[in-house]
Amino acid sequence: MSIERRRAAKLPNLKRRVLLPAAVGVAAAGITTLALLPQAGAAQSNNPSDLGNYGYTGSYIYGGTPSKGGGPITYEKLNPASIPYGKTLFLENCSTCHGVEAQGTTRAPNLQGLGAATIDFWVSTGRMPLADPTVQAVQKPPRFSRSQTLAIDAYVSSLAPGGPAIPNVNLTLANLAQGESLFSTNCAACHTITGAGDALASGVFAPSLMAATTTQIAEAVRTGPGNMPRFGPNTLTDQQVADVVKYVDYLKAPNDRGGIAIGHVGPVTEGFVGIIIGLGTVMLAGLWIGGRAK
Ligand code: HEC
Ligand code: HEC
Repeated sequence: MSIERRRAAKLPNLKRRVLLPAAVGVAAAGITTLALLPQAGAAQSNNPSDLGNYGYTGSYIYGGTPSKGGGPITYEKLNPASIPYGKTLFLENCSTCHGVEAQGTTRAPNLQGLGAATIDFWVSTGRMPLADPTVQAVQKPPRFSRSQTLAIDAYVSSLAPGGPAIPNVNLTLANLAQGESLFSTNCAACHTITGAGDALASGVFAPSLMAATTTQIAEAVRTGPGNMPRFGPNTLTDQQVADVVKYVDYLKAPNDRGGIAIGHVGPVTEGFVGIIIGLGTVMLAGLWIGGRAK
């Protein structure tokens, strides 16, 4: 057989053994990538004029201007008419420790000027009223209804201005991939990347984030409860807080979109794992096709 004829005979074989599997491989890798990374490019609005004033005026209770609306975070306006009811609830449930005017006592800290978000976080997560002042307050079923909590908040906020207002987060304007990277740099050291929580130094622990609502997550970030640092607007913008909240919310009920959950470590990481598994599958498929061609 001449060299030319041998080459000609080999060509179809080469096509089947190398080119076909390679083509299948590229196609499959593309499909895998597309299927696993749908959220990386989520739409986001970054219009600075929509960001409001972070609610740091303390004037909402008196009819000040809450954020302009349409931004990733809007601020709850408290109702001045609920102050008398809030005062009654405060005197019955809080004043023995915090004092009649929330000015603080030897048993508990001053609450004046902390802001509506701080009061709301501690009461709505059930941390307050506190049963045992010697241990770290924990998340438990709240004692008060939403309107009672807002009334207590209105009373305390009426005593002194200041502090952040109650944030409501619009998750549709938040970016999940951005939130994951902000969470990994700012929060994961204490709460772990899955939000499961962890023990910190000297008996303090960073709790699991699974029970927190979107408002409570934003409140924790802005007010820094207990041993958690406070992230003010110079550290994280409202947009970035909303992004982080979206990621924590995603950890609670990961949106798998029909894919296989990989420990819910986050969309970007899962995307990479997906690509590697995809490529591996593709190579196996290539070998199988190549094997059959023999
Ligand atoms: C048994 C005493 C006690 C009662 C009752 C109580 N608290 Fe507290 N509260 C504390 C103590 C002690 C702390 C500090 C706890 C800590 O830092 O972990 C605290 C902390 C707080 C904080 C956080 C303050 C800060 O500087 O961040 C808020 C807000 C608060 N309480 C609100 C309330 C409200 C509102 C009520 C009533 C619904 C209430 N508490 C009832 C003892 C009490
Ligand atoms: C230095 C450690 C540390 C860092 C960093 C940290 N936290 Fe925390 N976090 C804590 C601790 C401690 C608590 C519990 C506070 C308490 O109850 O006294 C907490 C509480 C919370 C809670 C309340 C959970 C509940 O019980 O409902 C949320 C939500 C939260 N953190 C979110 C975040 C987010 C989001 C970030 C990043 C922007 C972050 N934390 C960064 C230590 C930390």
